[in-house]
Amino acid sequence: MTEIGGPTVPQQRKLVTAIPGPGSLERLDRKKAYVADGVGTTLPVFVVAAGGGVLVDVDGNSLIDLGSGIAVTTVGNAAPRVVARATEQLAAFTHTCFMVTPYDGYVDVAAKLAELTPGDHAKKSALFNSGAEAVENAVKIARVATGRDAVAVFDHAYHGRTNLTMAMTAKNMPYKNGFGPFAGEVYRAPMSYPLRDGLSGAEAAARAIDVLEKQVGAANLACVVIEPIQGEGGFVVPAPGFLPAIADWCRANGVLFVSDEIQAGFCRTGAWFAVDEESVVPDLITTAKGIAGGLPLAAVTGRAEVMDAVHAGGLGGTYGGNPVACAAALGAIEEMETGDLAGRARDIGALMRARLDALKDAHPVIAEVRGRGAMMAIELTTPGTLEPDAARTARVAAYCHSQGVVVLTCGTWGNVFRFLPPLSISDELLEEAFDVVAEAFSATA
Ligand SMILES: Cc1ncc(COP(=O)(O)O)c(C=O)c1O
Repeated sequence: MTEIGGPTVPQQRKLVTAIPGPGSLERLDRKKAYVADGVGTTLPVFVVAAGGGVLVDVDGNSLIDLGSGIAVTTVGNAAPRVVARATEQLAAFTHTCFMVTPYDGYVDVAAKLAELTPGDHAKKSALFNSGAEAVENAVKIARVATGRDAVAVFDHAYHGRTNLTMAMTAKNMPYKNGFGPFAGEVYRAPMSYPLRDGLSGAEAAARAIDVLEKQVGAANLACVVIEPIQGEGGFVVPAPGFLPAIADWCRANGVLFVSDEIQAGFCRTGAWFAVDEESVVPDLITTAKGIAGGLPLAAVTGRAEVMDAVHAGGLGGTYGGNPVACAAALGAIEEMETGDLAGRARDIGALMRARLDALKDAHPVIAEVRGRGAMMAIELTTPGTLEPDAARTARVAAYCHSQGVVVLTCGTWGNVFRFLPPLSISDELLEEAFDVVAEAFSATA
């Protein structure tokens, strides 16, 4: 337990200055002077401590965190088990490079991933530093294992900012604009987006499969990479039956089904992994974010024979599976297991859905409430149409920020609020945060 962060941070919203306050404004000038402008900031308060569902800034303001650092601090910020395990590991040794001399933490995380990910077949993992790196490596593995080149992704997908993952990501601004040329052999299929296409899961899958068969050819495809609930693209939840139909088609055609659970995985949706909802068993699964409670760690986990298709030395990297990050992951996973955080995510989901449904009834600008567990969203459109309302979204977000509630937006059109609170947040704090969100809708009407 630390003095300034973790559970000692009072679980309250408290504003003592405007947001951002003078201390943050002063630091923003330094940021402007020394940090590249391309690195953006959603809410420019400089954080000095965090714990549970609260961030404390340099001016002494306490903000309610509905973003978890983009779905990372699922177990809470500076969670006790994460801090204890990482601290112990820091004092023991900080790095060897697993490819030079191995250590237990890496193997322990791989064993946990084999146990927790869907399916009871033999599984193996390789560890990396970021989600994008995991996605890149899943594609490398799929290509070697199948001897094929092509990769299928979906409309609204987000898979990262490296060269291959930029090609896989759908949205141009800000992720791709000017950064090409992009990697080849990446093909995009239509996603199931019930609000906008009105199709059943089976119909949407047939549409996507038709595109892949006609435009790529199943025999050329190494893998289909899909977010079971899309993250950055707008928390798009495919219609029931879509994922199983795509997975079945993959299996029938020797195409590997890769579930990108970097945002949706590790208890976020009320299950260990989002594909568990429909009993889909992926060939490969990519994880990051929530896996290590805030330390950088990512993984590709998959069928042992697929993972082992790659030649010795073909996978790795200097820092992949760093011992401190692995220790943090073991602490985070223990927290999830002992605290039944999947159950807590379902409870949080029920609370958020009730609040958001009421908000939708009061404000026709909200076209849809969607999501699962502690991964909920609302999409804003001009009432009675599907015309995205990004301007109102921005005004509501600005109001919430000014009142000390950290909310995140997303979506291809920038018109979606995504709510991703840490699972350690109390009901009281959540209710208070949604009081502010409700106030924001009324104040910006
Ligand atoms: C589904 C998904 N895949 C991949 C990534 C990329 O992860 P990272 O930012 O760690 O590279 C993200 C990040 O938001 C994500 O949500």
